Amino acid sequence: MAEFVGIDLGTTLSGLAYLKADGNPEIVPNADGERLTPSVVYFDSHEDVKLVGTAARDGGDPDRTIFQVKRYMDDPEHIIKMDGKDWTPSEISALILSKLKRDCSKIVGDINEVVITVPANFNELARKSTIAAAEMAGLKVRRLVNEPTAAAVYYAHSQGVQGRVLVFDLGGGTLDTTILEVVGDNIRILTSEGARHLGGSNFDEILLEAYDEQYRKQVSAALFNDERQRRRSLHAAEDAKKMLSKLQRVSDTIGNDTSGLARIDLTRETFEKLIRNMITRALMLVEQALDSAKLKPSDIDHVVLVGGSSRIPKVKQMLEKHFGKSPKSCGNVDECVALGAALFAKKSARIQEVCNQSYGTLAMIYNAATGEEKVQNSIVIPKNSSIPCSRTQMYVTSEDNERVIEVDITQGEDEDPKYVDVIGRITLEVPPNRPKGCEVAVTFSYDENQRVRALVVDKQSGRSREVAVSYKGAGVLSDEELKRRSSFLRQMRIE
Ligand SMILES: Nc1ncnc2c1ncn2[C@@H]1O[C@H](COP(=O)(O)OP(=O)(O)OP(=O)(O)O)[C@@H](O)[C@H]1O
Ligand SMILES: [Mg+2]
Repeated sequence: MAEFVGIDLGTTLSGLAYLKADGNPEIVPNADGERLTPSVVYFDSHEDVKLVGTAARDGGDPDRTIFQVKRYMDDPEHIIKMDGKDWTPSEISALILSKLKRDCSKIVGDINEVVITVPANFNELARKSTIAAAEMAGLKVRRLVNEPTAAAVYYAHSQGVQGRVLVFDLGGGTLDTTILEVVGDNIRILTSEGARHLGGSNFDEILLEAYDEQYRKQVSAALFNDERQRRRSLHAAEDAKKMLSKLQRVSDTIGNDTSGLARIDLTRETFEKLIRNMITRALMLVEQALDSAKLKPSDIDHVVLVGGSSRIPKVKQMLEKHFGKSPKSCGNVDECVALGAALFAKKSARIQEVCNQSYGTLAMIYNAATGEEKVQNSIVIPKNSSIPCSRTQMYVTSEDNERVIEVDITQGEDEDPKYVDVIGRITLEVPPNRPKGCEVAVTFSYDENQRVRALVVDKQSGRSREVAVSYKGAGVLSDEELKRRSSFLRQMRIE
């Protein structure tokens, strides 16, 4: 049995690593002999089989091929309809995890408990959906760990570095920047900032538009007319993008059966111009991370590159310019998250993490300047607080004879209730006939598994109520439903 196993469930590629007896992690290849498995599922219409990985990505009908579900893990409305059944992103992820579990256990023995990585800015629902996916695949999640944390753990382990490290993880779908401090064997996360929808796939889409424009100029017709043609062109654009990380110029022949072929040339310079805005956004995120850790670029001892898109020379140059030192990579940039996750499975006690979102409550706040009162999100645990942590804030009741105190638990940074998620509510019955202004203490605590507990204490009566906050909104499966779907998935043929 493999005791310490880590899985990087990526937007484009997924990987599994285990900790060897000598304490070093190693990637376990899949049954196709590949170290990483494309996070793609193909629903075959002839035989009842689900293909996962390269065969799914490169073959077949695009209408039956599911890509990049990770982008929708927190979207209850993102339902994929296939052969009369509704599939959630979590179930598609379960198919990917099932293949990893089955293939890799042939090499390392039974795999039951795992650490799975998620982007630092994954919210409660996306984290829950990831755990549900693992359960459906027959895996118990020991811990979810943030991807940049896992990468940093691997970097610190393999390079023996000390000091402040900024991890820049630009993958297929997300950008994460994390700043952490390594002292001896201990790692303390200082801050994490992330952007969804900023990654290699966005570069591919931009390049595809440029391809289409050039093609139209030459052929006076569109480069693609259906999804199959679009996917093929997108693939060509991605290949060209990768080549441009090594070469200054590439030539490609693109086209389709109806309008014919055209030859197009692309230089690295043109590509860099096309993605300039995205690179600027990435840099802004780095600055934001430095800001929230109250650090200057010169305070960072090591800049570490993670994620396939960090191979783009412009990305390295941008970081080099900003920090005045060349960024380092920890070996294979696509593998270090999974490797770090396997290390994390054993080392987690020595890693101090922060919470990735702010938690608070909705309260009536008086604005002295305007003389107005309005409902606002009042933060109790600010983002980037070291975890585990516990914070208390005092509030007062706002009405006479208030019989029930209702405390909404929010997740998000904004003052405006419209822009935060209400993830739970506590109600507490209090004695009658009291004037407004009675004190209520609200305590939130946050444990290392990113679980929030809330305690409400009515000071005057001493009555209190505590709950473990768990996101129960749309998209969260009940235990019975989860069991039902798990047994359904287990009967499936996955190749
Ligand atoms: N040489 C290269 N030059 C540019 N981009 C590359 C290169 N090699 C890989 N990529 C891009 O890296 C991305 C995949 O990176 P990675 O495997 O780190 O992502 P992921 O883990 O699947 O995604 P995420 O971390 O966002 O969930 C793809 O968009 C791919 O095109
Ligand atoms: Mg990744």
